[in-house]
Amino acid sequence: MTDRTLVVYSSLTGNTKAVAEKIFDIIEGDKEIVSINDIKNVDTDNFQKIIIGFWVDKGTADKRTRDFIKTLSNKKIAFLGTLGADPESQHGNDVRERVSKLCSEKNTLLGGFLCRGKIDPKLVEKMGKFPLKLVHPLTPERLARIEAAKSHPNEKDFEEAQEYFKNIL
Ligand SMILES: Cc1cc2nc3c(=O)[nH]c(=O)nc-3n(C[C@H](O)[C@H](O)[C@H](O)COP(=O)(O)O)c2cc1C
Repeated sequence: MTDRTLVVYSSLTGNTKAVAEKIFDIIEGDKEIVSINDIKNVDTDNFQKIIIGFWVDKGTADKRTRDFIKTLSNKKIAFLGTLGADPESQHGNDVRERVSKLCSEKNTLLGGFLCRGKIDPKLVEKMGKFPLKLVHPLTPERLARIEAAKSHPNEKDFEEAQEYFKNIL
């Protein structure tokens, strides 16, 4: 029997959902896509491969995604994360490492892809005010990162994500 593939995504502002849907498009065979909000309606026992889409929160996958990963065992997992920072930065590497470790604990990790995603303007506004201002001051470097993320995910990101997943699945 060929593997059945489930795509699960956790997305607050739509970046991760958009990339997850593009990846879903290129998956061959039996497949399903679901928001993590509805994961309780899906029996993961029916799937051998799971693609997990998450948004990056404080340097790792968001909590709902981390809790979900911990429920899985003996699956083939691949992940997709969207983040405000450059995926090739040290921060991006740290995210990749943390999530890879978590996915590999009880499962086989096929690979992981990170992609830039614009930051919610409401969050940026909060960063300019107390108390976030103290933790995340809007330094010129941070403002440049926020600006650079504004146009992502874009068509090129979608294509790169599709290419990456075609190769590892
Ligand atoms: C509370 C919060 C924390 C975040 N933490 C990080 C972070 O640690 N590193 C990063 O690069 N981006 C961070 N971001 C940016 C998001 O990961 C990024 O915008 C992502 O693409 C949002 O995905 P979504 O549209 O699917 O919700 C954070 C965003 C929020 C709202």
